[in-house]
Amino acid sequence: MTAPPPAGRELLRPAVPADLDALMVLERACFDRDAQSRRSMAHLVGRAHGEVRVVDHDDRIVAALVLLYRRGTRVARIYSIAVDPAARGLGLARRLIEDADRCARARGCTRLSAEVRLSNRASRALFAACGFGEADCLADYYEGEHGAREDGVRLVKPLLSDKRPVSP
Ligand SMILES: CC(C)(COP(=O)(O)OP(=O)(O)OC[C@H]1O[C@@H](n2cnc3c(N)ncnc32)[C@H](O)[C@@H]1OP(=O)(O)O)[C@@H](O)C(=O)NCCC(=O)NCCS
Repeated sequence: MTAPPPAGRELLRPAVPADLDALMVLERACFDRDAQSRRSMAHLVGRAHGEVRVVDHDDRIVAALVLLYRRGTRVARIYSIAVDPAARGLGLARRLIEDADRCARARGCTRLSAEVRLSNRASRALFAACGFGEADCLADYYEGEHGAREDGVRLVKPLLSDKRPVSP
């Protein structure tokens, strides 16, 4: 009997500036219209009011999530989530969202929010599976094809407090 292939080393960690090239490869593989520019990604990686979290599989970045915080609000925004097409369906996006949930709670946030295109069925299903509700319709929010606009949807998830009752 053949032994199963080694699972490989997988790590969920914060992105660092040296990850920029790999993050841009992932962006281009995952987005047609919504890919971020290198400059914007570099800004996000170094930003104090946000976090870029990545799944590193054997020193290769296979998934990333950008989480933003804003002064004066306890809502943390999932700005973007992307999983390499070859690594989809393995639960990586769910893990990144669970991690974002922990990161946001550690910052004292009480809600997670995200926006996606109404036509993006996979990500709407993902956010629903992770406990998000569809809060608002965002009319003409995104750039569409041939100069047209496309609707989006805002997704929201309340975060449970970390304060658990002390057991006697
Ligand atoms: C959306 C995306 C992040 C999902 O990544 P993924 O790692 O494949 O998702 P997971 O394996 O963690 O899936 C978790 C759950 O989401 C749902 N889901 C994910 N992909 C789905 C799909 N293509 N169709 C239907 N449901 C899907 C399922 O409920 C799934 O749970 P299940 O496997 O128990 O059924 C990925 O397809 C992607 O990178 N798409 C391009 C970028 C994008 O559109 N990002 C969102 C806007 S910023």
